Amino acid sequence: MSPAPLTGQRILLTGVTGQVAGPLSRKLVAAGNTVFGTARFADADSRAKVEADGVIPVAIDLETADFDNIPDDIDYVINMAVAKSNDFDRDLAANAEGVAFLIEKVAGVKAFFHCSSCAVYEPNGHVAHVETDPLGDNHRKMGFMPTYSISKIAAETAVKYASRRFGVPSVIARLDVPYGPNHGWPQMMVTLAQMGIPTPISPDAPNTHCFLHDDDIFSSIPYLLEQAAVPTPIYNWCAPELVSIEEWTAELTALTGVEIPLVITDACVPPNPIDPSKLLGLGWTPSVSWRDGFRKNAETSFPDLFKG
Ligand SMILES: NC(=O)c1ccc[n+]([C@@H]2O[C@H](COP(=O)([O-])OP(=O)(O)OC[C@H]3O[C@@H](n4cnc5c(N)ncnc54)[C@H](OP(=O)(O)O)[C@@H]3O)[C@@H](O)[C@H]2O)c1
Repeated sequence: MSPAPLTGQRILLTGVTGQVAGPLSRKLVAAGNTVFGTARFADADSRAKVEADGVIPVAIDLETADFDNIPDDIDYVINMAVAKSNDFDRDLAANAEGVAFLIEKVAGVKAFFHCSSCAVYEPNGHVAHVETDPLGDNHRKMGFMPTYSISKIAAETAVKYASRRFGVPSVIARLDVPYGPNHGWPQMMVTLAQMGIPTPISPDAPNTHCFLHDDDIFSSIPYLLEQAAVPTPIYNWCAPELVSIEEWTAELTALTGVEIPLVITDACVPPNPIDPSKLLGLGWTPSVSWRDGFRKNAETSFPDLFKG
């Protein structure tokens, strides 16, 4: 049976100025929810943009656990914030300690949804990861984002601890590659290629990953929220199509005419195929195939180049 649609709820959505939560906030508002969108809002512009989307901006700082502005009577928290300062102390404080303090602050909510990442998995070549697989520093060799995998692993433990400590039902969703009409890794590859910057890929071809489109991020959340519990269950969060960078680069070039140089190196995200069977077992099915999603992205993001 499908879960009740998410409507008429008071939702605290963290990381609202970010790539993934921005589009999600607009969908949650359109579905009739009251959305309190959090970020640090260092500049007035970012606050105004959020307000223009019908979201109520709420300044918080996860690093210092400054949550004074969070209103009472929140129904659900969707935690999409992530700190990527590259400083271990700061990122562990924001991503791990901060989320535990946040759960304490909102104790009493119906459910706490924590967005994790498939960057928590120890690379395992071409074997698709299931939720019980070993964890590791998946982003270690990339050369940037050194704190990412480790602080996302620590964050999961912080969620599990605080959920038990404060009796807050929670669910962890390990997102693989998010994208939508206006954002995502493929779009970034086209933009970088236009500046002459290549995309690094592993010699261990094919470089497979799994996408999740904005529409499917939104449609799957009620299924995942329904699983929130103590102790915290964990789900891979992506569509089941395995797509390689090699394959999607060819598609991007066909859609935009932009040649995207690929550089073979170990200094990259390794292939990271994901098995979302556990999520699909909840009865959720994705609605956007990667080729349709890419076409829409090219049309929206590169209208002058789009080879409709
Ligand atoms: N993007 C991907 O490819 C990808 C892949 C897998 C999983 N994920 C996961 O998806 C989620 C969203 O990622 P994203 O790419 O959309 O992130 P993003 O674009 O980097 O946005 C991060 C958000 O977190 C907020 N934030 C950072 N530090 C904060 C702090 N100390 N206190 C309060 N808010 C803070 C930022 O707001 P301000 O800086 O304005 O305060 C911003 O709104 C994250 O959990 C990420 O790990 C992303």
